[in-house]
Amino acid sequence: MVAGPLSDAQKHQLFAEFQRRLRSCVPWSPAMPYKTELNIIGDSYHTLNVFPELAPSDAPVAELNPAERADSPGKQFRYCIRLHRAGRQLMTWYGDKTGSVIFDSDVLIPAIYQCRDGEPGVWNEHPWMSITPAEILTLREGSRLAKGRVVIAGLGLGHQLIEVSKRLSVKEIVLVELSQELVDFYLPRVRPHIKKRLTVLVGDAYQIVPTLSADVALIDIFPNYGGNEAATQELARRSPKIKKMWGWGTAALYL
Ligand SMILES: C[S@@+](CC[C@H](N)C(=O)[O-])C[C@H]1O[C@@H](n2cnc3c(N)ncnc32)[C@H](O)[C@@H]1O
Repeated sequence: MVAGPLSDAQKHQLFAEFQRRLRSCVPWSPAMPYKTELNIIGDSYHTLNVFPELAPSDAPVAELNPAERADSPGKQFRYCIRLHRAGRQLMTWYGDKTGSVIFDSDVLIPAIYQCRDGEPGVWNEHPWMSITPAEILTLREGSRLAKGRVVIAGLGLGHQLIEVSKRLSVKEIVLVELSQELVDFYLPRVRPHIKKRLTVLVGDAYQIVPTLSADVALIDIFPNYGGNEAATQELARRSPKIKKMWGWGTAALYL
């Protein structure tokens, strides 16, 4: 079936719905509960930009000018600050639910893009990690479990690493990250925000994590949200010295 143009009544209904959402915006809090419809006051959404010299932009990733991007030396990673426009919907997900978030004013969303497989400098259209409400809320459930000696698998934008390091009950962190290029390029920007003892191990988490001991391991090395239960469970089974393991995009916790 081919969808025809919207009728005037349908357009009116969509506009009324959009106005209703804009009128019901509330301040952002990283502690707020997830809802399938999130309407957030843009001015309350503050994200950490570790390249403050960059200008924000809403241009497609491949069209960013040098003032709007930071590329890793081997051109595998591009960091930028997305200028996310007021009223534009962003998808959210949580457990088995999906939804959307809108902001009532423009917001800044740090993002990192990876190059296409084997094509340095040619960027995937979608970021590989960005500091959106969905990422913050879904990573939060893992970060809240962190205590004692914590293994974090997957550096990404370092969001979870920073959040975990703020927790009083956390004594030390072991970061496991596959990409040496990401560690060299990005970790120096994050390190000043880490107030706990940090050990960095570069390599494949599927091989390294089973050799480590920890109170908690937080695993976020999966490309997509959801369906990561089996991989997390299998990793937990092979990691007898990890007391508790959490995987991003799984519904369960493995003890
Ligand atoms: C989505 S990002 C993690 C985001 C991170 N939780 C944050 O808060 O910003 C996924 C990360 O896992 C890393 N990664 C992917 N596969 C991996 C593996 N097998 N072992 C270790 N790290 C891996 C990627 O290089 C990337 O840094």
